[in-house]
Amino acid sequence: MKVTVLGAAGGIGQALSLLLKTQLPAGTDLALFDLAPVTPGVAVDLSHIPTSVSVKGYGKENLTEALAGADVVLIPAGVPRKPGMDRSDLFNMNAGIIKNLVENIADTCPKACIGIITNPVNTTVAIAAEVLKAKGVYDKNRLFGVTTLDVIRAETFVGELKGIPVEDVHVPVIGGHSGTTILPLLSQVKTAQFTQEEIESLTHRIQNAGTEVVEAKAGGGSATLSMGQAAARFCLSVVKGLQGVHVTEYAYVEGDGSDAQYFAQAVVLGANGIEEILPYGELSDFEAKAKADMLDGLKKDIQMGIDFANQ
Ligand SMILES: NC(=O)c1ccc[n+]([C@@H]2O[C@H](COP(=O)([O-])OP(=O)(O)OC[C@H]3O[C@@H](n4cnc5c(N)ncnc54)[C@H](O)[C@@H]3O)[C@@H](O)[C@H]2O)c1
Repeated sequence: MKVTVLGAAGGIGQALSLLLKTQLPAGTDLALFDLAPVTPGVAVDLSHIPTSVSVKGYGKENLTEALAGADVVLIPAGVPRKPGMDRSDLFNMNAGIIKNLVENIADTCPKACIGIITNPVNTTVAIAAEVLKAKGVYDKNRLFGVTTLDVIRAETFVGELKGIPVEDVHVPVIGGHSGTTILPLLSQVKTAQFTQEEIESLTHRIQNAGTEVVEAKAGGGSATLSMGQAAARFCLSVVKGLQGVHVTEYAYVEGDGSDAQYFAQAVVLGANGIEEILPYGELSDFEAKAKADMLDGLKKDIQMGIDFANQ
């Protein structure tokens, strides 16, 4: 098994790479690529941790080597938000980065499962899909927008509010990964009951949790440590799936298109990436209205990615 991280020297990339070095199955190769000159040093640093995961760093001339033979590629490469910015403000900087990196993936390891972390995820996943289609290697079961952070935030906030162990909290989060497109299904939480006021304030907090971090970091970036944890969990689940153990995670993927072409929902991961997309069940009236109200915005975000990739 080989896992490649593109953008491995950044805030997310370093936290993620540390967790992967300590948690990937023994025998895995971990390849770290970034444009930053510190990248080989990050790899040397991690290589002193005694686990049976081998780590190698690759600088800007060696993207092809970093990708060769990769089974999973995770992409946190790009620019994060500063206070006052919306995820869509990152489009101009990050769209080209994703296009270029995914072109290289298509040429070098077209069968890899790709997890896109770079924002705006609602749009960057559509860009990646169009690039893969143009290269004739698109497999909708192997392309994911990583939305695991929305799930772990939702579970943390519900556990805190209700005073229940977070291990006992399961919150489906569907839709997209920006503002109101993030839709937690609190009506499906089995271990807690909420008043309407709690539903409204929790939904608002989950949708704006990224901004909570951006403001608290006061210009120093967005979520990196919690995102590292979220991406590591997602990656370990994909790897388990590839090894034949079925695991369910939420991710932003191409489904049946009944809501939008790309939509975050529960997916069963297996030997070929997505084995099955699970229905999200019944929504409360509040959730159904929130979904109806945000779908146009999500579809616009997706169209922007399609247009960018094909211009
Ligand atoms: N999906 C999510 O839930 C989620 C959560 C938080 C942040 N993000 C996004 O993740 C991205 C990274 O955030 P961060 O805090 O790690 O930023 P960062 O600035 O700390 O790190 C980004 C890294 O990407 C590298 N990079 C830039 N262009 C590259 C290229 N073409 N090839 C390889 N590497 C390149 C930079 O050198 C840097 O090391 C941002 O777009 C941010 O918005 C997503």
